[in-house]
Parts: sequence; C-alpha cells; structure tokens
Amino acid sequence: MCGITGIILKKGNAAPLVYESLKRLEYRGYDSAGIASIDNLKLYMKKDSGKLDEIHKKIDLTDIPGPLVIGHIRWATHGYPDKINAHPHTDCTKTIAVVHNGVIENFLELRRELEEKGHKFITRTDTEVVPHLIEEEMNATDDLYTAVLRAVRKLKGSYALAIISSSEPDKIVCARNESPLIIGVGKEGMYCSSDIPAILEYTNKFITLDNREIAILTHDGVSIRKIKDEQVVYRTSFEVDWDIEQAEKQGYPHFMLKEIHEQPDSLRDALRLQEQYLDLVTTFLDRGREIFLVAAGTSYHACLAASYMFSKLAKLTTYPVIASEFIDRYGDAVGIDSVILAVSQSGETYDTLKAVDHARMRAATIIGITNNVASTLTRVSRAYLVQQSGPEIGVAATKTFTAQLIVLAQLALRLAKIRGKISQDEIDELKEKLYRMPEIIKETIIMTEEKVKELAEKYRDKNLFLFLGRGISTATALEGRLKLLEITYKPALAFPAAESKHGPISIVEEGVPVIFIAPYDETRKDVIGNIMEMKARGAEIIALCEEGDEEIKGLADEYIEMSRDIPGLLSPIPYVVPLQLLAYYLAVYNGLDPDKPRNLAKSVTVP
Ligand code: AGP
Repeated sequence: MCGITGIILKKGNAAPLVYESLKRLEYRGYDSAGIASIDNLKLYMKKDSGKLDEIHKKIDLTDIPGPLVIGHIRWATHGYPDKINAHPHTDCTKTIAVVHNGVIENFLELRRELEEKGHKFITRTDTEVVPHLIEEEMNATDDLYTAVLRAVRKLKGSYALAIISSSEPDKIVCARNESPLIIGVGKEGMYCSSDIPAILEYTNKFITLDNREIAILTHDGVSIRKIKDEQVVYRTSFEVDWDIEQAEKQGYPHFMLKEIHEQPDSLRDALRLQEQYLDLVTTFLDRGREIFLVAAGTSYHACLAASYMFSKLAKLTTYPVIASEFIDRYGDAVGIDSVILAVSQSGETYDTLKAVDHARMRAATIIGITNNVASTLTRVSRAYLVQQSGPEIGVAATKTFTAQLIVLAQLALRLAKIRGKISQDEIDELKEKLYRMPEIIKETIIMTEEKVKELAEKYRDKNLFLFLGRGISTATALEGRLKLLEITYKPALAFPAAESKHGPISIVEEGVPVIFIAPYDETRKDVIGNIMEMKARGAEIIALCEEGDEEIKGLADEYIEMSRDIPGLLSPIPYVVPLQLLAYYLAVYNGLDPDKPRNLAKSVTVP
C-alpha cells in the first residue's frame, strides 16, 4: 500500500502542500518518497529512499517550482525501496511523470512489449510501465487524457494513478481501479489523494472516484468518465467534518478496526502475487526433504494452519515450529535437504531471523513470506514472497494474518497441482473459493460485527475465556485467543478441543465463556461432543458456526453465524474475523487502546 497526492493550484507553488500531504500518508508506507512538478513546460522531480523527513532534510522536497505537482510515499511491493525505484516514474522523454498505488499484475508482459518497441526501463517496479505506455499512446494521439485512457485500458490489477505531463501543464489526469483515490474540491485549486486525511487541510469538500473511472483535474474543476466507454460521470461532492486525527483512521476510532475492515482490499492484493515468484517458492517446497514452517506469534498460527493445508492438499508433511524453539528442537537435525519457510510480516523478528541464520549456516534453503520487501528476511532468503498488505499500524496483527493465510493457501494449491494428490476439480473448487475470499470477508464483517458487539458487551467483565477448535480450527482458536490476550489483557486459553479432557477442562466452571470454532467440516461431529462436555460443566458456549447450523446453534448459549459453504481448509481466513472484532470490542468496552497494548511492540527485534 502506498500513498499518492496530486495538487493543481490556481497560482503559486504546490510542492509544499504536497509534502505536507505526504506526511499525512506516512501510515501507508514509508520506505521512499518523491515529488514531481511542471513549471514553464519543464518537468522537475526529486525522490529518494528513506523516511519522508530524512529525504526532505537531504534534498528539500518542497523546493521544486510550479502549481502542478504530484507526490508519492512508498511501501515497496515490487523493486527494492531504493532511490531508483522510488516514485514518481517517468517515460523515456522525461516529460511524463506518474505516481501509483496498487499492483499491476500484467506489468512484465507490458514491459516486454514496450522494450521491444525501444522503451528503456530503469527500475524494477511494476509502475514504470505506466509512463511508457502513455508515452507510446502519445505518439498516436495528441492529448494526455486519451493517451492515459488507452494506457489504463491495458492494465490488469489495482491502481490509483496521478499523471502529469510537460506537454499539458494545465491538468492532472487520474485513474482508479480498486486502490482508493479521492478528489478534493478547493477554492485555491483541485486535489487528489489516496485518502481524505492527506488533503483535509486544504479542503473539506470531496468527490469520490469509483473503480474503472478516469478524471481530469484542472485548477478550477474536474471531469470524470468511465474508462470502459468514456461515459461522462456526474457526481456531487460531499463534505466531512472529521478532525485530522480521526481522518488518518479514515473515520475509524482505531487503526486496528480500520485494518480489520481493510481485509477485503488487502486480501485482493495478496491474491495478486506474481505467478513466477509463487512457482519458484512452490518448486523449493516440492523439492525439500523436510520443511519447517518457522514463525512467531500470529505468524506461527498462520504456519500451523498452513501445515494442515499442505498435508491435506499436497500430502506434504511440514513442521510448524515456534521460531524461538527451532534451534533447540531441530538445530542439530536441520541440513542441506531442509527447507525453512520463514513467515514474518515485519521480516525483522529476532527469534525468526535467529532460527533462519542457524539453518542457513547448516546449508538449509531459506524461503521467506513477509509484508516488508526491504526487511532482513528478504535479504537472507533464497526466494521470498511479499504479501502486499500495506503497513499495519495496529500492534495486533489482523489483515497481515489473513494475507499470510491467503499466500500459504496459494502455495498449498500449487503443490497439490504439482503432486497430483487431489483431483483437478477439487483444486478448482478450492481456488474459486480462495479467490472469493475478499468478498466472503466483506460478507463476514457485515454478518457478524453487530452480534460481536453484543457479545463483547455481555462478556466484558469475564476474566477467563477459552477458544477451542479441531483440525485447522485449532489455529483459528489460537489466533483468536492471542488477539484477546494481547489487547484486553484477559487470561485466555486455546487448545485442540479434544485436549480438554486431558487436563484443561478442570478450569471450566459455571459461566466461563468457551468459544468454539465450528465450521461445517469433517471435525464438526467431534466438536459437538466437545461442546456437550463443556456444557456439562456449566460453560457458557459461544459457537462460530455456519449459517443455519441448527444443531450447533441449539447447543450454544450464543452463536455467530458465518457464510455457508466455506471449505474447512480455508475456514481460518473468515472465521478469524469475528474473533479479531471480539478482541477489539472487548478492549474498547474495557476502556483500553487496542492500537497500543501494554508491553508489546509491533516488531519484536530483541531476543
Ligand atoms: C500478533 O498480533 C503480535 N503482534 C505478534 O505475535 C506478532 O505476530 C509476532 O511478533 C510476529 O511478528 P512478525 O510476523 O513480524 O514476525
């Protein structure tokens, strides 16, 4: 996730305003930044890697002339976050500048076509194909809008684009598909940005740009058309009365809630990984004699869930291991035939990196899955996948967890295909469901949030919770418990439901809330038995079950109904969402700040 801003003023220099705007977008990415402007028919540009204020101190981003300016702050997904890969990006003639937020899926084929036409590329980014496409189209037409329209029609994937050209210094052309882009209507000029907070200082009047729409901003207005057929769009503006602090959370009270609600979008990007990177990682996994899934905390829960997917879909045995235990447990056994799949959203977790370093010294193959392309993990990995969730500000992992599951599920399905252990029909059915996950998550939030609020109110004073599941739902239970533990500080237990009789059930007494994760999968019958066990001891049963599952609903004191026909092996992805919300609302109803839980850091880079 990156942040873009464009400003065109009636008069004066817009660069200082764009710089201030980028500061408000830093939560969207902060590994490089840049600004470009047009003045007297000349393109000016400044950009560098690093945090925004460091770059500004070094090269003064506000010191470029002109009333027409675009800016970008980056969370790298393609191409290392160095100066050359920083946005804006330009065409061969250095007269067109582009800033982009999103993922262009077909950039490699577009790049090959453009290189065959003689275009010279200088970066590793997906974005750089855009200015060259526009340049190519400008050869065939005489106006920027038409060139941009034809160029974006060739793009597949998500984009929020702002484009300027020295040949038409009176406009910014914007285009959007899935990545957010808002237009600001001001007295001194017109604005566009990834979100409202970035330009709220300049106007509180906005117009939305919807998917597959293109807009021309001049200093006194905007015109919007459909990309598909150039149908003119008439859309009235709206006003907001947020303060800046609220606006940075886009109206949500906390980043954690915003990030829970962001999951449909972040999962769409997790489903847009480059095929050849997924295939490379799959090949390493397929060849490994033994595969360790190494991670900490929430990322470990993703690995635990993945071990079920790899086993059931590809008949591949993998060993999920808590990173801090890896060396003591497997350190002497790991060797050249071992593959370490290290999962870390920050890519900087000390325990995970220590385990990876140990395995690397023993010639094991290191594969990384991370959210941070500039992290240590990517540098020490033989191959890596970037999950493309964008920065996660809340200390509690939410959208990065479901994105990790999406990436791991894609690997499991690829391994299933290579190994031919399940039918193509089964693979196709699971793949169809996987690609529907963003929609399923959206439905889940709509279906469950109000019920979860009621439950949080009802159980806000409880001081012990149990989370139980069987099979892959054990991972869901562990993650739900960690969410509750880390932001409400309430004691909670989670273990495979069948383990209850081996000890933990002794803790259960009248009124203890026991949350069962009970999707309609092969574990359901046994889960019903476990529910009965707990009921017999007076537990308060809260069941996450499929909509219309009357048997489980009848046994529960409370239930949360989930969308139908979710395959058990993909169930952690939607089923964790009500548990994220439950932890969030329990924290808020207990007067706690879910974004900043005590004693915790977002990335644990110490032993
Ligand atoms: C999860 O909510 C916690 N923030 C924590 O357990 C986290 O998952 C763990 O520290 C691992 O972080 P990583 O994914 O960046 O390696």
